[in-house]
Amino acid sequence: MSFWWRPLLFILGIGFLAAILSNGRPAGSGWMLFAAGLLIYLAYHLRQLDRLSAWLSSNDRPPLSSQGVWGDAFYRLGKLLRERRGAQRKTAADLERMLEATRSLPDGVIILDQDNRIVWLNDAAQRLLGLSAQRDLGQFVLYLLRNSRFAEWLLTEDLARALTLESPTARRQTLSMQIVPLPRRQKMLVARDITEMTRVEAMRRDFVANVSHELRTPITVILGFLEAFEDMPDTPPGEFRKHIPLMREQSDRIRRLIDDLLALAKLESEPDTKDETVDMPALVRLLADEAETLSQGRHRISLELESRAGLIGNQRELYSALANLVTNAVRYTPEGGQIRVNWRTAENGGAHFSVIDTGDGIEAQHIPRLTERFYRVDRGRSRATGGTGLGLAIVKHVLQRHQARLKVSSVIGKGSTFTAQFPRERVISLPPRPE
Ligand SMILES: Nc1ncnc2c1ncn2[C@@H]1O[C@H](COP(=O)(O)OP(=O)(O)OP(=O)(O)O)[C@@H](O)[C@H]1O
Ligand SMILES: [Mg+2]
Repeated sequence: MSFWWRPLLFILGIGFLAAILSNGRPAGSGWMLFAAGLLIYLAYHLRQLDRLSAWLSSNDRPPLSSQGVWGDAFYRLGKLLRERRGAQRKTAADLERMLEATRSLPDGVIILDQDNRIVWLNDAAQRLLGLSAQRDLGQFVLYLLRNSRFAEWLLTEDLARALTLESPTARRQTLSMQIVPLPRRQKMLVARDITEMTRVEAMRRDFVANVSHELRTPITVILGFLEAFEDMPDTPPGEFRKHIPLMREQSDRIRRLIDDLLALAKLESEPDTKDETVDMPALVRLLADEAETLSQGRHRISLELESRAGLIGNQRELYSALANLVTNAVRYTPEGGQIRVNWRTAENGGAHFSVIDTGDGIEAQHIPRLTERFYRVDRGRSRATGGTGLGLAIVKHVLQRHQARLKVSSVIGKGSTFTAQFPRERVISLPPRPE
């Protein structure tokens, strides 16, 4: 409700009173009365303003009351302030609850400023990383967590890559660290205890490796006997002899599966490659020759050696990975197709090995899953060609160990290109070959 008309009525009232009282009195006495009335009125308002100013500057603001326009203004102001105080209290309570939850998270959380100084950390971060909220706030995190891998990882700010690290407080405790970007160039480091997960993963790896190892000898014996039976001219005739080739083929498949599982287990158990200088042009030539042998004239195979660069890496691992790409191209390209084996230097100083085929191609939804173990686009076809679905998983592992990436592009009905992209740090120039 608006009270603007009340002061107006009040002034008009004083004026009217002054006019009545000045009737018959000396000139000017009415106006003096009017002025005196206005003065009182002004003093009243100044007094209310003063009360408001004092009220605003005090901390504990008891409710202000007044009449008329001021009463209304005081009431509304008081209500506004009460609402704001309520909202502030709620925000503070929410914030405190959030902080409390983060503080007691089982994962370690550290907030860093743009210079990697610690702004805040929770209890788990103190426990897992041996830091202290009292001592270490404002400290440069790299001075406190002295580990070259951690430093390199933090400074490159690779958000996609989690870092696996041994806890500085407890040996045998494995941590996985992740960077989460925050506003104003701050970042959050999340450290998770993955000791149990690593233990289960190691158990799985050992189990697969042990079973594969144990199966290898019996299957070799069975295969040997089957081969011998097949070669014997006086093997019992009839049904038995008819099934020997199938038995051999299936046993051979089991042996290849075991070999691949063992290869994967070996790759997983050795943390780093044993590096040597790999003569890539020679290796690529060998792979193209092998493609010819495998194809047996069913495809046109071309070798494109555009670079003389070599690699720092493990010859045996690289051979097994790249041979899989070549074998796949031969396997999954129908007769009459073309397969190009290409080795070239990339613009960024790295080097690329590509196998380009004119096969059936792979639908886009399968491409991200090709490197999963046992993943095959067409199980029936892959099985018929002797595939186990472990080849590209091995390729991925080997390339990861060489800091290289596998890039797959494919167009249905046109063909596929599998490229192993090696980083510049792995590329070396080889001495010229004596012709
Ligand atoms: N060049 C290619 N063209 C079409 N499909 C391919 C090509 N390379 C791979 N694939 C598809 O990807 C799947 C996975 O390949 P991968 O090499 O991992 O297994 P595999 O060849 O079936 O068996 P392995 O290599 O273990 O003997 C294959 O089954 C096939 O469906
Ligand atoms: Mg394969």
